[in-house]
Amino acid sequence: MQTSGSAPLTPERIMQMAWGYVPPLVLEAAIRHRVFDVLDSGPKTIAQLSQQTKASARGLSAIAHALVGLNFLSKDGEGRFALTAESSAFLVSTKPGFQGGIIRHTSEQLVPKFLRLNDIVASGRPVEAVNQEATGGEFFHQFVNDIFPMSYPSAQTLARHIRQNGAPNRVLDLAAGSGVWGIALAQASPHTTVTSVDWPEVLPVTRNTVARFGLADRFTFVEGDLLEAGFGTGHTLATLGHILHSEGVRRSRALLTKTFDALAPGGTIAIAEFLVNPDRTGPTVGLLFAVNMLVNTEEGDTYSFEEISGWLREAGFVNPRTLEAPGPSPLILADKPA
Ligand SMILES: C[S@@+](CC[C@H](N)C(=O)[O-])C[C@H]1O[C@@H](n2cnc3c(N)ncnc32)[C@H](O)[C@@H]1O
Repeated sequence: MQTSGSAPLTPERIMQMAWGYVPPLVLEAAIRHRVFDVLDSGPKTIAQLSQQTKASARGLSAIAHALVGLNFLSKDGEGRFALTAESSAFLVSTKPGFQGGIIRHTSEQLVPKFLRLNDIVASGRPVEAVNQEATGGEFFHQFVNDIFPMSYPSAQTLARHIRQNGAPNRVLDLAAGSGVWGIALAQASPHTTVTSVDWPEVLPVTRNTVARFGLADRFTFVEGDLLEAGFGTGHTLATLGHILHSEGVRRSRALLTKTFDALAPGGTIAIAEFLVNPDRTGPTVGLLFAVNMLVNTEEGDTYSFEEISGWLREAGFVNPRTLEAPGPSPLILADKPA
């Protein structure tokens, strides 16, 4: 069969989708059975992997070969499996770049809710919302440290950028989670102090992580819902890392206005999000993440730079702009007029 272009029309992509749920589950099984960790010391056969991980040879053979097909492992002529540059950097749990934390939530926390997608599409309502403190607090308590590596390089980029434009000394880190944004900013300047706001169930995790980085004396912690907690005033930088998407339009706009009031004149707001383009045709990760928000929140979604800029202007901010940063999307910055 031919399409109007020159590429033949085949059902290949649909057939791939039929098994599209398999790769993250294979990755999770490999992480949980320490396959990448064990291969960090050098290539191994299935028998050696089985001996060191105590998992079955049959199971390991199936997932190791699948990981070869997915280019997360290679296999040599003697049947030995080895890490690739990518799996070595990001899937070995002892490495600082380890991104497998989020993958470990696939089977028990992420997929079970997606199994209800048919019903959720019919009703437009989540089965259980993580934007509510009762369920969300417990979910994020486990989750936030696992997404630390996703934002740490972006937070460091922000810290370098802000420093070039005058050292911030009072950071307001909203929906702090692991504390990743405040931690990178505090590491970049000894003059920086941070106020971290999050739910009471999650702040103990923030405190622990901040303490692990040896920064506890420069942090203050404020617990409560974002629209109710006291933010104080006079902050020079406010960070909103991956929070607008679960808040939805109505609460996000209120949060931006509240943040504006908490900033000193000339202060800056920095927003990290999974952005979509203005006509919502891409990028795919932002579109898929919007389905995640449908499944997990009451009003959450993903937004474009243009939408968020509109809310920022409405709140009084000027000069909304993007800052290229490692991560799913560029950061959005804007200023409170001096
Ligand atoms: C996706 S995590 C992001 C954490 C961190 N900012 C980051 O970028 O890694 C969202 C965080 O927002 C917190 N959160 C979500 N809704 C909240 C609300 N309504 N009030 C206070 N905290 C909230 C969660 O507890 C969680 O720590």
